[in-house]
Amino acid sequence: MVSILITAGPTREHIDDVRFLSNGSSGRMGCALAAAARADGHRVDLVLGPVEVPVPPEVAVHRVVSALEMQAAAERCFGAADLVIAAAAVADWRPAARQAGKPARAADRWTLELVPNPDIVAGLAARKERRVVVGFALDATSAGLEAAVARGRDKLVRKQLDLVVVNLADAIGGDDSKTVLCFTDGRRQDLPVQDKRATAATIVRAAVTEWQQRRSAS
Ligand code: C5P
Repeated sequence: MVSILITAGPTREHIDDVRFLSNGSSGRMGCALAAAARADGHRVDLVLGPVEVPVPPEVAVHRVVSALEMQAAAERCFGAADLVIAAAAVADWRPAARQAGKPARAADRWTLELVPNPDIVAGLAARKERRVVVGFALDATSAGLEAAVARGRDKLVRKQLDLVVVNLADAIGGDDSKTVLCFTDGRRQDLPVQDKRATAATIVRAAVTEWQQRRSAS
């Protein structure tokens, strides 16, 4: 039994009490990962942005809205985790200030000042010790799979991850996805086009195997 922290879903970055910046992440992959982990007998903390998908049973769910809330919840769960799987589609930017209420439109043009959100998974990976940290690299360009894998490998190094799951952009919100797992030793595993449940089970097992190998090597 391994303790797994999963981040999932989008974040919402409020402009005012009504409007927000977000993206179309459904949270389906994160919930499929949580279900797959439970099915293999692992303990799961699921830090989940605002989504409507049903959450699998027997999972500790921590609901959040913004990236800063997601970061705080993930940090709280991190101490107890052996494995982190960051599947969340965190908004890169948030408004510099949140206005109260729903301000009326006042002009033809409006400039919104944004500030960067923290990179949650990179922050956790920087102090991972013996934990295994898995990230996702969703590629939205049309440059093809090999370019996506190259960018995924770059993320692996830059964010100090142990495994990167490369997904082509048509995965977002959809049911099936083309996926490649990239490991730090240069290995890669191409998964067949299949539904997210099957992909999730493979990702969880690959990550748990990494964790077991590291534990037995140390
Ligand atoms: O850099 P990019 O957003 O493509 O990286 C994607 C990976 O990093 C995903 O695993 C995502 O959950 C994670 N991430 C994060 N915090 C952010 C941005 C991305 O944890 N602010």
